[in-house]
Amino acid sequence: MEDLIELENVSIVREGKTILKDINFKMDSSENWAIIGRNGSGKSFLLRILSGNLFPSTGIVKIFGKQLGFVNIWDLRKEIGFVSDHLQREYDRETRVINVIYSGFFASNGLYQDVTDEMKEKVVDILEFLEIFHLRDRVFGHLSSGEQKKVLIARSLVFSPKLLIFDEPCNNLDLASKEDVLHSIQKLVQKGHNIVFVTHHIEEIIPQINNVLFLKEGKIIKSGDKVKMMNKKLLNNLLSYKFGVVKKNGWYYFKHF
Ligand SMILES: Nc1ncnc2c1ncn2[C@@H]1O[C@H](COP(=O)(O)OP(=O)(O)OP(=O)(O)O)[C@@H](O)[C@H]1O
Ligand SMILES: [Mg+2]
Repeated sequence: MEDLIELENVSIVREGKTILKDINFKMDSSENWAIIGRNGSGKSFLLRILSGNLFPSTGIVKIFGKQLGFVNIWDLRKEIGFVSDHLQREYDRETRVINVIYSGFFASNGLYQDVTDEMKEKVVDILEFLEIFHLRDRVFGHLSSGEQKKVLIARSLVFSPKLLIFDEPCNNLDLASKEDVLHSIQKLVQKGHNIVFVTHHIEEIIPQINNVLFLKEGKIIKSGDKVKMMNKKLLNNLLSYKFGVVKKNGWYYFKHF
């Protein structure tokens, strides 16, 4: 078992406002986590810290046992794949899919450097694994939201990162596309990647996720074993909404009254 992430008393302050407060979190390679919380609870900020993309205002962050501030952040980021809406919105929409994926090697938004044969081979493997080889010559901006999401997942995999971080990957997807993206994420976990997955919907918590963290107003209100966390009272309190929780074949569903 390998230590993946450790946060000690991490806080984030912006414009005098505390966005994350005293976050303590530990994740090892036997774990996959879901993070749940209402809009504005600080989930995306937390992911930016976990992925080494943001330094906390106070506290200690260790990723793969290495403390941020004492390691080469560019090397570290290669071991972490991060998929969020941000890149989907910001990426030049005229770029070919294959170049969107190649750009992951250079952490750039656009392709400005030469791609080696080794990189090309790697990307073919990824395209086949995610079953999107047929999309490789399409224009990124012409793809559906679900197809774009899979392309960005492909881009995040170019360095075969151990840890994959997803910020609401099923946002704005119809049911079939959602299933498709979740299926790809399941395959990645089965292949040996560990994931952290932010969502508002418990039905997106794939069975391989074994731990859940509840975030409310920048604080962890509870975290730990998924089975204990998928409790109606806890979830109703977290999301300020009344519903039941149903479990079926390892998946959870909201039951609205
Ligand atoms: N520069 C800033 N100054 C002050 N507050 C900020 C700043 N940037 C973001 N915030 C606030 O930080 C809080 C947490 O934002 P974050 O994006 O992490 O929330 P979230 O849980 O991901 O929400 P959502 O579910 O809507 O994606 C929000 O209340 C947001 O308004
Ligand atoms: Mg967010």
